[in-house]
Amino acid sequence: MLRLVVLLICTAAAPSDSRKDVAAGPRLDNDQLYKFSYRTEVLLDRARGSKQSKAGYRITSDVSVNLVWRDPGSHDDQLIQLVISNVGVENTADRSAQENILQGSTAESLMGSGPLGALTRPFMIHLRNGKVKAFYSYREEPATIKNLKRGLASLLQVQLKTGKVIESDVSGRCTVQYQRTEGQVRRTKLLEACQTPETSFTTHSQVMGVTKKASSVTVFTLRDGFIDSAEAEEVHILAANSRRSAATKVISRQSLTFVGRAAGPLEVTGKDVARVVASVDAKLAAVGVMAEKVRPQCKGCPTLFEHWQANQHQFEPEMLSKAMAPRSFLALIQSIRKATKAEVLKVLKSASKTALPQVVDAVTSAQTPASLDAILSFLNFTDAKGLVLQERFLYACGFASHPNERMLQALLNIYKGKIGSSEIKESVVIIMGALVNKLCHKGGCNSPTVVQVKKMILEGPESTEVEAEIQMFLLALKNSMLPEAIPIFIKYAESEVGVYCTIALSALQRYDVKLINDQVKRMVNRIYHQNRRIYEKNVRAAAADVILSSDPSYEHVKNLLLSIGSLPHEMNKYMVSKIQDTLRFELPASKVVQQAMKDMVSHNYDRFAKVGSSSSYSGFMARTADVSSTYSLDILYSGSGIMRRSNMNIYGASSGATLHGLQVAIEAQGLETLIAATPDEGEQDLESYAGMSALLFDVQLRPVTFFKGYSDLMSKIFSMSGEPMSVVKGLILLTDHSEVIQLQSGVKASAEFQGGLAIDISGGMEISLWYRESKTSVNNRGALVVTGNVTVDMDFIRAGMEVSFETEASLDFITTVQFSEYPFLVCIQMDKTTFPFREYLTKYESVPSGKNFVSRKGRKQLVPGSEFPLHQENSNMCKKVFDSDW
Ligand SMILES: *[C@@H]1O[C@H](CO)[C@@H](O)[C@H](O)[C@H]1NC(C)=O
Ligand SMILES: *[C@@H]1O[C@H](CO)[C@@H](O)[C@H](O)[C@H]1NC(C)=O
Repeated sequence: MLRLVVLLICTAAAPSDSRKDVAAGPRLDNDQLYKFSYRTEVLLDRARGSKQSKAGYRITSDVSVNLVWRDPGSHDDQLIQLVISNVGVENTADRSAQENILQGSTAESLMGSGPLGALTRPFMIHLRNGKVKAFYSYREEPATIKNLKRGLASLLQVQLKTGKVIESDVSGRCTVQYQRTEGQVRRTKLLEACQTPETSFTTHSQVMGVTKKASSVTVFTLRDGFIDSAEAEEVHILAANSRRSAATKVISRQSLTFVGRAAGPLEVTGKDVARVVASVDAKLAAVGVMAEKVRPQCKGCPTLFEHWQANQHQFEPEMLSKAMAPRSFLALIQSIRKATKAEVLKVLKSASKTALPQVVDAVTSAQTPASLDAILSFLNFTDAKGLVLQERFLYACGFASHPNERMLQALLNIYKGKIGSSEIKESVVIIMGALVNKLCHKGGCNSPTVVQVKKMILEGPESTEVEAEIQMFLLALKNSMLPEAIPIFIKYAESEVGVYCTIALSALQRYDVKLINDQVKRMVNRIYHQNRRIYEKNVRAAAADVILSSDPSYEHVKNLLLSIGSLPHEMNKYMVSKIQDTLRFELPASKVVQQAMKDMVSHNYDRFAKVGSSSSYSGFMARTADVSSTYSLDILYSGSGIMRRSNMNIYGASSGATLHGLQVAIEAQGLETLIAATPDEGEQDLESYAGMSALLFDVQLRPVTFFKGYSDLMSKIFSMSGEPMSVVKGLILLTDHSEVIQLQSGVKASAEFQGGLAIDISGGMEISLWYRESKTSVNNRGALVVTGNVTVDMDFIRAGMEVSFETEASLDFITTVQFSEYPFLVCIQMDKTTFPFREYLTKYESVPSGKNFVSRKGRKQLVPGSEFPLHQENSNMCKKVFDSDW
C-alpha cells in the first residue's frame, strides 16, 4: 500500500517538472554576440617540479559566440557559432631574449597564413542539453587546427545537474562527474576509463612498467544562463616503476573568460540543424568532436638507413658493456618503428657480421608488422649455420614487451617448416611457451593460434620418446605457466629421468601458491621422503624447495625437520642451511617453521649441528624506495665434494608485483670416477654431465650443456680453455610504453618510455685434477638505460622533455671447491663491481624555422662495489682457500 502511494506522488510530480523548463545546459540569448578571452597552455616538467623553467607554450585568442538557431520545441537544442580571432603564441616561462624561441614572431609567421586562416574561420557546434552533439568545420582544415577548435568546443560542454554520465569530447568517450554548487559547476573527467581511437601499448612486466596518474577538472561559473568563466586543468604523470623519480608531468590548462556582449547576428530559421548549417556555409561538415589522428610529420628527420649509417659503430660487440649501447638500441627501435619492411631489410643486409646480432635484437624488439616481416624474410631457418642470429630472434620474441598473436603464428610456422638445427627447434618451442604466457596474461588465451600452441605443448611430452624433445616441451610448459600443465608436472616430477623431475619441480615453484593443490603437495612430500623410490639428491632438494615455498602445513614442516639427521651428509647440511635461511630471511614459511622447531627443540637439537659444505642463503641486493631486489644462492654438493646443483636467483619487486629477473642453475653429476670417489646412494649409474640453465626476466631459455658423457668430459678437461660459455647475450627491450595523450585542449602529447638492457651472461665449470679443485663461475654483465620522452607537437611549435637514467654493472659469482680433504673447502664469492649511476633531464622547445631551446641537467654518482654477504662459515673458508693458494 505504501509503495502505491509513493508511486502516485512520483507520477503526479513528473509533468509539473518539465513544464517549469529547467535549463539542462547553458543557453544563449537570441541576436547577441558573447565575447570571451581564451587561453590554453601546455607545460612539461618533472613530477615533483624542477628548478629549471617548465617547457611549454601558450596560445591566446579572443572568442566570440552567438546563437545561430534554436529548436522551437526545445530551448536546450541550440546551434552555436564560434569564431577565434586575434591569435597569439607565447612562451610560458620568462626567458631571456636569447632563450626565447618566440622572440619576434607572430602567430602568422609561426603557423603560416593558411593554417592561421583555418583557425580563425568560424565553426559551429550543435549543443543539446549542454552536450556537443555535432561539431562542424571545414573537412580539409589541418588536423591540428581542427583539434584546437574541438578543444574549445569540449571546454564548453557542461550540464547544470549533478550526476555521472558518459559523454564524448575531444579526448574520447569518457565517464564524467558533474557537481553543481552555488553558481558553479565542477566537471571531473575520469581519464583512466576514456576510450580513444589512439593505439597505445605497455610492457608486460609490471616491475619494469610505467605507472600513470591523471586528473582533469573544469570549473564553470555561470551568469545569465550562460558561461561566465571556464577554467580547466588536466595533469598527466607517467613514471617508470623501476625508478619513480624518472617521471614526466604534462599540465594542460584552458581558461575562458567572459568579456562582454554586443548586438549579434539574427537567429536563422530552419527545420533542422543540418539544413541550417548548410544554408549558412555549405562547406561546413560534421567532422566529429573526437580528436583525429595527427600524422607525425617529420621534416628533415633522417630515414632509418641514414640513422643506421650514423650510429652503426655503436652496435659492435666491444661497445656492448657501455650504456651507450642500449641507448643506441632504443633510438634504433624508434626509427625501425617508423620504417617499411624494405627499409628494415636494407639495414639488416648492410650490417656488419659482428653488429648483425644486435640489429636482429632491435628489429625483433620493434614489434611492428613491417619489422616482423623483414626479419622473417631475412632469416633462413633451414640453414643450420645461422644458429646465432636465429636464436637471437627467438629470444627477442620471448622477451617481447607486447607480443601479439601474429608473432606466435610466425614461430608456429617456423616450427612446422624445416629447421636446420635441433637446438633452434628446441628454442622455438620453448619460446612459444613464453609467448602463450604473455598472450594469456593479456586475455588472448582463447585466440586460435594460442589454442593451437597450447594443445601442441600440453600434448607434447606424451607425443614423443626422445628425451631432448620431452625436455623441450616441459620447458615450454614451464614458460607457459598454464594451470592445465600442473597435472603434467605432477606426473613428470616423479619420473625416472632426473632432468624431467627438476624441470617439473622448478616449474611448479613458479606458480601462484593458490594453484598448488593437495595433489602437488602430496607428490613433493613423496619425493622428498622417498616413499616410493630413491631419488637423486638434487631432485629431493628441489622438492624441499617446493614444499617450503608453497604454504606448507605444520605436519609437512615437522616431517621435513624430522628427516634432518638421517639424510646423506651434504643434503643434511643443505637442509639445515635452508631452514636457517628461511628463519633468518623471514621467508614465507618462517612462521610455521618456527612453530615446528619450538615443539621439537628438546629432542632434536643435535640434528642442526651437521658438518658439510652445502648451503642456502638469501639476501637483499638493493633496496630503494621503488624496487627491492633480493638474491638467493643455494648450493648442494655430493658426498665426493663435487658440486651437484647450484641455483642462483635474483628477484625484483615493486609495489606488489614481482619479476623473476634471473635464475642460473648449474647441474653436475656422475663425476665421481674422475676423482676416484664413491658416488652417493642412488647416483651410481648417472652419466657424466654438467650444464647450465637460465631463466631471464621470467623467460626460461634453452639450457646449455658443458659436457655430456665421459669421453666428452675427458676431451673438455684436457683441452680446458677456461673460457666461460655464453648463455645469453644481447640487447633486451625491458620497458616499453607508448601512448598518445589527447588533452582536452585539443593538443596531443606523445609519451614514449623505453628501457633497454645490454646483457651478457656466461658460465663455466673447471675441474683441476692436479690441484683437486673445481671452480664454477657465472658472470653477468649489463648496461641499462631507461628513457621517458614526452613531446607536444603542434606542427608550428614543439615542446618536450626527456628523463633518463643509466647504469653499467657486473656481478660475478664464483665457487671454488678444494676436495682434497673432507669436509671440503668451499668458497663462494658474489661480487659486484663499483658502478656508475647517471640521471639526466632535458627540456626542449623548437619552431619550424629551426630556432630551438634546449636545457640539460645531469647527475652522476658512483655506487661502490661490494661482496654480497653470505654465511659466516663461507667467509672463514674463503680465507682458508685463498691462504692455501700461497
Ligand atoms: C636457406 O639455407 C639452405 C641451407 O643452407 C639453402 O639450401 C637455401 O637455399 C637457403 N634459402 C634461401 C632462401 O636462401
Ligand atoms: C624524444 O622525442 C623527440 C620528438 O619525437 C625526439 O626528437 C627525440 O629524439 C626523442 N628522444 C628519445 C630519447 O627518443
